[in-house]
Amino acid sequence: MSYTAYEKRYEAMKYNRCGKSGLLIPAVSLGLWHNFGTYDSFQNMKDLCFTAFDCGITHFDIANNYGPQPGSAEENFGKILNGELAPYRDQLIISTKAGYYMWEGPYGDWGSRKYLLASLDASLKRLKTDYVDIFYHHRMDPNTPLEETMGALASAVKSGKALYAGLSNYDGETMKKAAAILRELNCPFVLNQNRYSILDRAIENNGLKAAAESEGKGIIVFSPLAQGLLTDRYIESIPEDSRAKRSGRFLNEQKVLENIEKIRRLKKISDARGETLAQTALAWVLRDKACTGVLIGASKPQQIKENVKVVKVADFTDEEIRLIDEAVK
Ligand SMILES: NC(=O)c1ccc[n+]([C@@H]2O[C@H](COP(=O)([O-])OP(=O)(O)OC[C@H]3O[C@@H](n4cnc5c(N)ncnc54)[C@H](OP(=O)(O)O)[C@@H]3O)[C@@H](O)[C@H]2O)c1
Repeated sequence: MSYTAYEKRYEAMKYNRCGKSGLLIPAVSLGLWHNFGTYDSFQNMKDLCFTAFDCGITHFDIANNYGPQPGSAEENFGKILNGELAPYRDQLIISTKAGYYMWEGPYGDWGSRKYLLASLDASLKRLKTDYVDIFYHHRMDPNTPLEETMGALASAVKSGKALYAGLSNYDGETMKKAAAILRELNCPFVLNQNRYSILDRAIENNGLKAAAESEGKGIIVFSPLAQGLLTDRYIESIPEDSRAKRSGRFLNEQKVLENIEKIRRLKKISDARGETLAQTALAWVLRDKACTGVLIGASKPQQIKENVKVVKVADFTDEEIRLIDEAVK
């Protein structure tokens, strides 16, 4: 199948600066955590990537362990990157990460220099590319000196295998220490990747949001739809093809039931705004200037088309923000 990108794709999207860096990312990026594994449809993966790029989504986010099987999301995306998307490589931001369990033995997990640099090499092989744009440390490691982990990120950038460094799931205090080390090492650390949504405000309380602003770093927000809870998907029932039915491990029927009353209250607010709940939930994150972009997942191209319309929605009134807070109390 041949693919030519939609020529007006850049007109529909907004691009925001990652903190004080030179890097711009789209307000909406696509993550490949789900739906890009060994058992998923390769044709659907292509449709998701092409739909995203046609909507102006230039940034695709992966990690070494995304699948299942671990590594398969990189392999599958690598085929698309080296296939139809090859002519567009310089228009794309590809990120990957290491930090969670990837292979057996003491060198396939956490934050050692040994793990990070071996993992990046393996990611590049699976992606069949010479470099990624952003290489993240995926989670804080309480047992490895921060200097060692940050030194590995700096080496990755120095070697040309990554253009920028990122940190994921760090709290504010640790991120500040890491930023100081990376500054010393002249390593371009531009972006934090953390969970944030109407339902999960942890980064307001662990100092990350404030630290990112004071350090001049960006935040790309993952699971801004709380894995699909903050959409119209579960309002009436739990569909067979939904993540709550299919995944179980990260989202399940129990979590839907625990949240359904909040979701229905929020849906009334999005209805009043003339938006889908997904659009309201994404707009709620993006209204915050500390948040550079949202990192969504999608199982269907139509979800991407619906979600990117967030760049066109109206600002919230103070009353709407109050009602949203009240709905999730
Ligand atoms: N750094 C980290 O530790 C970390 C952790 C988690 C995720 N991430 C990154 O963040 C990305 C996004 O995470 P996420 O997938 O949890 O994000 P999300 O956007 O909160 O949830 C995505 C899911 O919501 C449903 N959905 C999306 N748009 C919809 C719409 N318009 N209407 C109805 N349902 C809709 C789909 O689920 P259905 O399957 O039900 O259709 C979709 O797969 C990941 O791919 C990954 O790149 C990073």
